[in-house]
Amino acid sequence: MSEEKKIESLQKDGQIFMPDVEKREEAWVGGMDEYEVLHKRALEDPEGYWGERATELLTWFSDFDSVLEADYETPEFKWFSGGRTNVSYNCLDRHLVDGRRNKAALIWQGEPEEDVRVYTYQMLHTEVCRFANVLKKKGVKRGDRVALYMPMIPELTIAMLACTRLGAVHSIVFAGFSSIALQSRIDDSAARVLVTSDAVLRAGKTIALKPNADEALKDCPSVEQCIVVQRGTNDVSMVEGRDSWWHDEINAEDITSECPYEEMDAEDPLFILYTSGSTGKPKGVLHTTGGYLTYAAHTTQHVFDVKDDDVYWCTADIGWITGHSYIVYGPLALGATSVMFEGVPSYPNPDRFWQIVDKFKVNIFYTAPTVIRALMREGEEWTRKYDLGSLRVLGSVGEPINPEAWLWYHKNIGGGKLPIVDTWWQTETGGIMISALPYATPLKPGSATRALPGISAKIVRRDGSPAGPNEGGHLIIDKPWPGMLRTVWGDPERYKSTYFSGFSGAYEAGDGARCDEDGYFWIMGRLDDVINVSGHRMGTAEIESALVAHADVTEAAVVGMPHEVKGETIYAYVTLRSGMEPDDDLLKDLKAWVRKEIGPIATPEFIQFADGLPKTRSGKIMRRVLRKIVEGSDQFGDTSTLADPGVVTDLIEGNRDLI
Ligand code: WTA
Repeated sequence: MSEEKKIESLQKDGQIFMPDVEKREEAWVGGMDEYEVLHKRALEDPEGYWGERATELLTWFSDFDSVLEADYETPEFKWFSGGRTNVSYNCLDRHLVDGRRNKAALIWQGEPEEDVRVYTYQMLHTEVCRFANVLKKKGVKRGDRVALYMPMIPELTIAMLACTRLGAVHSIVFAGFSSIALQSRIDDSAARVLVTSDAVLRAGKTIALKPNADEALKDCPSVEQCIVVQRGTNDVSMVEGRDSWWHDEINAEDITSECPYEEMDAEDPLFILYTSGSTGKPKGVLHTTGGYLTYAAHTTQHVFDVKDDDVYWCTADIGWITGHSYIVYGPLALGATSVMFEGVPSYPNPDRFWQIVDKFKVNIFYTAPTVIRALMREGEEWTRKYDLGSLRVLGSVGEPINPEAWLWYHKNIGGGKLPIVDTWWQTETGGIMISALPYATPLKPGSATRALPGISAKIVRRDGSPAGPNEGGHLIIDKPWPGMLRTVWGDPERYKSTYFSGFSGAYEAGDGARCDEDGYFWIMGRLDDVINVSGHRMGTAEIESALVAHADVTEAAVVGMPHEVKGETIYAYVTLRSGMEPDDDLLKDLKAWVRKEIGPIATPEFIQFADGLPKTRSGKIMRRVLRKIVEGSDQFGDTSTLADPGVVTDLIEGNRDLI
C-alpha cells in the first residue's frame, strides 16, 4: 500500500499514528507506561515532582525552602521560595566547561543567505557580559525594565540575557507592532532603556524601524536612553544625549567582558510580555525567574527530546512567547544548539525552511500550522529539493493543526515516519501544557493529545461541573505549575478577574476544547473576543478601539473570519459618522489607520460598512450574530433580544457583496 493510501485508510478507520517503538529507548519519556507513571506521580506529589525537576534542571546558588505556596483567593503563587539563582548563569556560565564551552549555542541565519553567525557558549557569554556592562553604565539595575523592539538578530538574544544577568526585567515588543502599540507597552512597564535597530530586513526589503521608536519615544517619559543596533544601511537620525549605537557602546574602552551576575530570588520578575485580551488594553503578562526557567527547560527536554548533539530550530519570532521559551530560555538552559532565523518561509522561494534544515542538519523542527498550510499550497516539489533526513521530531504551535496540514507535514517533512508534537499552551502558561511526547504518545492528527505529566487539564461546563467525553467546554488547569504567569503587570485585579474568577480553584485558559474517550484534547479555539491570525493572538477590542479612534467612524465590531491559510482573518464591521459615504479611499485610509495604530498584523482584510450593528435592547453588540454572518451561516441561535432584527438582513446582504 502506498504511503498516501496507508494514511488515508488509517484516517478512515479512525486510527492513530504509532510512534516508532525502536526509538523509544532513547527518548526522554520512553512510552505511555512511563508517561502514566510520571503523570500519576506528579499529580499525587506535585511538590516532590517539581522540586526534583527544578533541582535537576537548574543550578541554584541557595536551595529553595518550599516548592509551592498557592493561594487561589488573592491569587498568589510562589514557586521555589527562598531559592536563589540567575537565568543568564543557567543559560551561559554553567555551560563554560570542557566539552560544552565551544559548542554552538546559537546558529543565526540572517535574511541574506550569506549572513550566518555562530556563537559558541563562550562567545555568547562574552557578548552578554559586554552588553550587560553597557546597560549597567546606563544606570540599569535589578528590577528596572528594559524594552526591546528588535528584529530577529543575535543582539536581541544577547540583550535578553544581559537583562537577566543584571536582574533587569525585559519587555519585548514584536517589531511588527506600530509606534503607537510600542508607546503604550513601554509606558505601561515604565521602561528606562529602549533597545532597537535601524531597520528590519524582510523578504529582500529593508524596512526602517528606528522612526517607529522615535515616534513612540515622544511620549515615553520613563525612557532615558535608546540603544540602536545597525542592521541596515538606511539613514537614521539619532537624538543627541538619548540615542547611541550598539557597536559604539559595546566597543567603548571601559566595557569589559566580565560582568558578575546578580543572585536573584526565584520569584523575582524575569520578563513582561504583552498579550491581547478581551478589552482594548493589552495585558502585561509577568513571568518570574525560577519557575519559568524550570518549566521552559523541562518542557524543552521532554517535548522535543533534545539531546546533546542536536540542532534544534524553532521558527517563531522572539517577539512572541514561543520565541522566548523555545528559541532562547529552554534550549540555552539545557545547553542545546538553537537556530535563530531572521527571514520568512517564502523568500526568496517557498523552500527556505527546508533549505535551512538541510544546511544545518536540523534534528528538531518547531513551526506553526499557518506556515505549513502556506507552504502546502506551493506544492511538495519544494520539499523534495533537500535532504531532510536529519530531522527526528517535528512540532506545531499557535492554533489547532487541521488534519490535512498534519498529514502533509508528516508525509513531506517527516518522511511519513516522524512524530509531530502538537503543543497547546499560551503566553500565560510560560511553556507547553498539552502535547504528545515524541516516540511515546500515539498520535491523532488534529489533537494536541494528552496533558504533560503534572499538568491537570480539565474540560468543564460553565457551572464548573465536568464535561463528558467529547462534550465541548472550558479548558481549565486546576493545579498550579511552575511556568504559570504571576500577575498582570500593574493590574492584579485584572489578573484575578481574567484567569481565576471563572472557576474556583482553577486557571481559566479562555479556550474551548473537548476531551475524547482516550483523554486526548481537541482544542476548538478562543471563547473570548480574541482571534487567532496566523497563530498570532489579536484582541478584537484593540482593533475596534483603533477603528473608532478614526474621525469618520462611530462604531466598529471586529470578528474572526475562517481563512484557509491564516486560520482566521480580520473582518470589521464599521458604521460611519452621519453624512459620510463609504468609498475606496476611505477603505484604504481605514486599513492604513489600523496599520499605524497597531501594526500590519492587525489590518482588517475585510471592512464592511454598515448602517447599524445588531444590538440587544440594552445596547450590547451581539457578536455571535456577526461571527455567524462571516462564517456564511444563518444559524444565529436566539435572536429574540435583538432590538432591530432588520439590521441582520442588511448585514448579510452587505457581506455577500463583499466576499
Ligand atoms: C492558541 C502561543 C490549538 C490557543 C503559544 C491559545 C493553540 C492561544 C495551540 C495562545 C495548539 C496555541 N492548538 N490552539 N497547539 N497553541 N493555541 O499566547 O487559542 O500567543 O489560547 O501563545 O493560541 O496564544 P499565545
